[in-house]
Amino acid sequence: MSPKKVRRKKQIAFQNPAAPSKQGSELPGEFACAGRAADFVLSQTELRPQIALVLGSGLGAFAEEFTDATKIPYAEIPYFPRSTAIGHAGQLVIGKVGAVSVAGMQGRVHLYEGYSAKQVVFPVRVFARMGVKAVILTNAAGGIKGEFSQGKLVVISDHINLQGVNPLTGPNDERFGLRFHDMTGAYDRAFRELAVDEANRLGIGMYEGVYVGLGGPSYETPAEIRYLRTIGGDLVGMSTVPEVIAARHSGMRVLGISCVTNAAAGILDQPLNHLEVLETAERVKGQFISLLKAVIPRIAEAIA
Ligand code: HPA
Repeated sequence: MSPKKVRRKKQIAFQNPAAPSKQGSELPGEFACAGRAADFVLSQTELRPQIALVLGSGLGAFAEEFTDATKIPYAEIPYFPRSTAIGHAGQLVIGKVGAVSVAGMQGRVHLYEGYSAKQVVFPVRVFARMGVKAVILTNAAGGIKGEFSQGKLVVISDHINLQGVNPLTGPNDERFGLRFHDMTGAYDRAFRELAVDEANRLGIGMYEGVYVGLGGPSYETPAEIRYLRTIGGDLVGMSTVPEVIAARHSGMRVLGISCVTNAAAGILDQPLNHLEVLETAERVKGQFISLLKAVIPRIAEAIA
């Protein structure tokens, strides 16, 4: 009998999620890459964050308030994507808010920068591998609903994905989560309630609404905004949706907060620009920081 040929499994190269790749291309090393990045981050600090924050356009200032802070530039974290958008510092800050250990991303990457959906959610995968249990995702958004005027803070109650991609496209890695995972209640009800509760206590007017994620980078046309209103959208932005999908896939609980930086296209008779987005985020920074400071201990309690 001839000896059986041992067929070796084809070795797939460890693909760097930070390198530009084709949309939807397979990242066979995602779990291992995220594990290595997580190990690196945890080797830089003695803290073990249970809550992670993604701080969107102009909202990164909150991480400057962390105590016992260790700042790690994204460029130093293995496989981490680099943020190219203005208003995104591009570093991960590990530190404490009161007694709670947190990880805060000063800036994120977006689909419009040319990153794939898998690359966009890589930091969220790293959080999962670090043992993080809850993620607070923040963003700048255009207000579609009438009362969502410039400077308002809105708790995201649900989303509509019009980005044309999903970070879970391709083979599913069961170590992260299920092939078909539920998105009912993706934005944790208990977190939403405690956020509204804390906002009320602080005298910050807080709203709830449905976030529509588009690809950008061009802002929407007025006709698109009319369409988004018709389908149930209250806010519009270019981020957050892939991160929420990945966070829920990995079983992390999610709070989403939008800062309305402008009325969406066509609502006011004026053009949109990114400077306005950053200026508004800067203006509400104080309120935003107080709210996060109040919400974090409550979330820590809820996940304990
Ligand atoms: N549209 C899309 N993304 C945004 C907007 C907007 O009006 N404002 C801030 N981010």
